[in-house]
Amino acid sequence: MQSPLIRTALPPTVSLDSGEGQLPRLTVNNAQARAQIYLHGAHVTAWQPAGHEPVLWMSQASMWDAAKPIRGGVPICFPWFGPHATDTSAPGHGFARLRDWTLTEARDDGHGATELAFQLTTPAAPPAAWPHAFDATYRVSVGASLGLALEIRNTGADAFTFEEALHTYFAVRDVRGIDIRGLEGVDYLDKVGAATRRTQGREPIRITGETDRIYLDTRGACAIHDPAAGRRIVVGKSGSDATVVWNPWVAKAKAMPDFGDDEWPGMVCVETCNVNVHRVTLAAGARHTLTATIDAAAA
Ligand code: BG6
Repeated sequence: MQSPLIRTALPPTVSLDSGEGQLPRLTVNNAQARAQIYLHGAHVTAWQPAGHEPVLWMSQASMWDAAKPIRGGVPICFPWFGPHATDTSAPGHGFARLRDWTLTEARDDGHGATELAFQLTTPAAPPAAWPHAFDATYRVSVGASLGLALEIRNTGADAFTFEEALHTYFAVRDVRGIDIRGLEGVDYLDKVGAATRRTQGREPIRITGETDRIYLDTRGACAIHDPAAGRRIVVGKSGSDATVVWNPWVAKAKAMPDFGDDEWPGMVCVETCNVNVHRVTLAAGARHTLTATIDAAAA
């Protein structure tokens, strides 16, 4: 298969095929890990380090449609998060996860990992909801760790403001049996019901119902402890001041057409982001990089 979105030679560890919904898909297979990435949204849909079960969760009900976001894996939310502030016709979580990204680099790093770079630039007809000139580069390193780095550059003449999230969906044995550590004592905006500011207690997060929270001023790593799976997933980060924790639970899962009614126990999102009060303003010519580094280890 060939695609105009591939602008570089592929090393032997990377192959291109037509994936679900006939969307172009890259498969990375090296000594350290296996991964799949769709050019639609530069969306990482699978990462499995050697010796581990798949770390990312994918919905069996995902739409696989070029006009829709993929449900699971790592959607890139940009340049806004959630509904657009004023334009109700604008897509949720921004347009980056709906656009085709271009593959501009693919190489083995000489230490067993494979590095890919994807690019997205201002659409030919910039949307009224966010009419700014930008260049986004997304670097994905597939190895014993999964490295994700989203760089936004302001290529226009005026400053702009954006939100962004690496909306990582993680596979867990049963969300009711996990805990999430690293956010103890942190203030958060609780988006379930009327948005309310609360403070996490000194105990790790346990998921006991619909959970949709923006943890504020978070700059350290989080760990998902999953004793039933015998696994710990660690999410390290840089250039990020907020962390979103999300599980839809029963009713919201039923309400989403691209999310199986009974799938919610198997996933949790711990998202590396800059959203809400932590949105980013970039001067003309300036750049900003958000990174997330995912590791899996025995519990
Ligand atoms: C989370 C948001 O990050 O993503 C939730 O905090 C939202 O409010 C969820 O429901 C899923 O969003 P979407 O647009 O992919 O259905």
